Amino acid sequence: MNIHLENFIKKKFKKPGKVLDLGAGKFNDVNDFKKLGWFIIGVDKATGVDLNKPFQYEEKFDLVYSNYVIQFIDNKEIFINTCYNNLKIGGWLFLQTFAQGDKIMKYKTLNEEQLNSLLKDKFKKIKIKKYNEFDNCPGHKHWHQILQAVAQKK
Ligand SMILES: C[S@@+](CC[C@H](N)C(=O)[O-])C[C@H]1O[C@@H](n2cnc3c(N)ncnc32)[C@H](O)[C@@H]1O
Repeated sequence: MNIHLENFIKKKFKKPGKVLDLGAGKFNDVNDFKKLGWFIIGVDKATGVDLNKPFQYEEKFDLVYSNYVIQFIDNKEIFINTCYNNLKIGGWLFLQTFAQGDKIMKYKTLNEEQLNSLLKDKFKKIKIKKYNEFDNCPGHKHWHQILQAVAQKK
């Protein structure tokens, strides 16, 4: 599992709950959550869910996370509404994306202020941090600037 996400769930959750992965990619994190006993739903463009449009699952979740997806989304307010609407009150959002200024990812990236203003009316306990991380995948091998946001649904 993504190491930052793993550390986050160890800190916030004493037992497995319900989790939604927005933009699950190859479903690696989804499979890891299943092994830990969580109920998990993963969606992605590749499985027919376009997160530029609202997505609403039939149940609400304790945790909604999305790693390296929001930079591809044109309508970021719709995306954040999808995060919010799928969470239980008090549920947690965990979001990672490439920061504005990242040398490799030149998509529709956000800076800390933009991310905060997307979250501030709907969430409390918002923490946004920016850090550098080395991508060591074969064929990549470069530094990225990452933005990470955690927040709790009001
Ligand atoms: C960089 S990958 C990240 C995958 C995974 N979250 C991870 O951390 O390994 C970005 C993912 O976002 C998905 N994606 C991009 N635009 C999307 C959209 N409009 N709706 C749904 N998924 C989208 C892509 O299909 C891809 O799987």
